[in-house]
Amino acid sequence: MLYEPREDSRLLAKYAKKYAKGLVLDIGTGSGIQALEAAKKKNVKKVVAVDIQKDVVDYCKEKIKNKKIKFMQSDLFSGVKGRFDTIIFNPPYLPEDVRLKDLTVDGGKKGYEVIERFLNEVSDYLKPNGMVLIIFSSLTKKEKVDEFIETSLLKSKILEKKHIFFEDLYVYLIEKSDLLKGLEKERIKNIKKLTKGHRGIVYIGDYKNKRVIIKKQRPDTKAVAPIKNEIKHLKILNKKGIGPKFLFSNKDYFVYEYIDGLFILDFIKNLANNKKIIRKIINDVFNQCFIMDRLMVDKEEMHHPLKHIIIESKTLKPYLIDFERCHKTKKPKNVTQFSVFLISGHAKSLLKEKGVKIDRDKIIELCKRYKKERSKENLKLILNEIQ
Ligand SMILES: C[S@@+](CC[C@H](N)C(=O)[O-])C[C@H]1O[C@@H](n2cnc3c(N)ncnc32)[C@H](O)[C@@H]1O
Repeated sequence: MLYEPREDSRLLAKYAKKYAKGLVLDIGTGSGIQALEAAKKKNVKKVVAVDIQKDVVDYCKEKIKNKKIKFMQSDLFSGVKGRFDTIIFNPPYLPEDVRLKDLTVDGGKKGYEVIERFLNEVSDYLKPNGMVLIIFSSLTKKEKVDEFIETSLLKSKILEKKHIFFEDLYVYLIEKSDLLKGLEKERIKNIKKLTKGHRGIVYIGDYKNKRVIIKKQRPDTKAVAPIKNEIKHLKILNKKGIGPKFLFSNKDYFVYEYIDGLFILDFIKNLANNKKIIRKIINDVFNQCFIMDRLMVDKEEMHHPLKHIIIESKTLKPYLIDFERCHKTKKPKNVTQFSVFLISGHAKSLLKEKGVKIDRDKIIELCKRYKKERSKENLKLILNEIQ
């Protein structure tokens, strides 16, 4: 089915005329209107125009004889090679109507699925200073499109918002954020935002065939230089076998190896009753806590480490993560806090369910003793209480 140019086509073409440059990719070319508009420009060298529908591509090849434009069939970027200065996309952006299947307008169940897939992949086909021109409607859900842009470390500005009939049309100019450009320069690929914490924003990506985590300080954090603090402590603790491996950093972010596994309680929950493994993991965490106590470093969050201990699936080694609150102290509480964690709340009932016995009163007594003297012997007494 051919999409005859409509209001949205003409609105986007206005900006293709203004902004297209260099090497241009027109996705979902349809009648070829965007490709033709771009090709008219002197500063446009070549246009690759793709569409998912073979008959549409055949039609364009037949009708449009323009030396600058090459038409081909492709589902988004699947058949596309190289990087472009300008990528233009007038996507199917409406929630699909199951009664009237129409590839030219059906953007997926919610309307934004094709755009989501496009934004997920586009950075690999865009030059560092390249730009994307895209149009969608208020029926597409603007908040979702904005979310996908943020997750992919892109930035956008609205070139025009136009009201037609029952909807608003938005034309966006999208570019790579400075963070994305910086990370790509470091050869990190497939970067996506994972979560936003109180102090940092966490991204995941691929670096030298490994999954890595990238942590950037939140611009609005009240904490003083948490990233700098975390880097400092991660480097120190890495030497003692604690924490995921630090890779590199600059003033804005740092990169460390991703740990593929589950958070401690999820891991224990999913484990068939295997006391031996659970005890081994608990002992290992205690030993790491003890090393930190000996270094006079307090991690601060060991009484509630739900999201701070990951058990690596392959090795079953527990990895402590998030060292931004680490600080030097004369009274480090890592061992005692982790003990408290095990004898209270969800951890306590889960361990009981898995057959691990811990005498709460005994642990409290032994923690008091340990507090007085943070020795290996006193740690051992605590470990012996976990049966
Ligand atoms: C709204 S029309 C836009 C056509 C033309 N670019 C314009 O501005 O008038 C959307 C076009 O995208 C094509 N399309 C839909 N899904 C696609 C996909 N996954 N990959 C490539 N093209 C796709 C459709 O066949 C259709 O020609």
